[in-house]
Amino acid sequence: MEIKWIDIPSINDPRGNLAVLENSKLPFKVKRVYYLYDVPSGSKRGGHAHRNLLQLIVPLSGSFELVLKDGSDEKIALLNNPTRGVLIPNMTWRELRNFSAGAVCLVLASDEYKESDYIRKWDEFVNLSA
Ligand code: TYD
Repeated sequence: MEIKWIDIPSINDPRGNLAVLENSKLPFKVKRVYYLYDVPSGSKRGGHAHRNLLQLIVPLSGSFELVLKDGSDEKIALLNNPTRGVLIPNMTWRELRNFSAGAVCLVLASDEYKESDYIRKWDEFVNLSA
């Protein structure tokens, strides 16, 4: 399993930089946007996979680690650049950890929230991935 980095075009300017995400340049149509913020030090998020959902994770501010597992392989990515996101395919277990103070994690998703799309039990994920 390889980490699928997505480079986000940014218009750099002495007044401040401007990064742009457009549907036509992404591998899925964005139907939902959410973000994690005010994450306490030492807190962990994620700990599940999605049956069908695709997501793009972008560290808008600060940094955090993303652990991805596909049932046989594991990769860790440090997200610390708001112009570099990671695409999470479906059927990929994810954990988010080691959030820096003030970190903001933006998530673009291919569908609206559906609890039925979650796989929250590791054993079930491993069985389905086999
Ligand atoms: P969850 O996806 O488990 O959070 P994370 O993976 O970031 O740790 O979601 C936490 C709670 O928020 C859970 O009760 C479901 C709810 N939720 C929504 O209602 N809508 C959403 O779009 C998301 C992502 C979560």
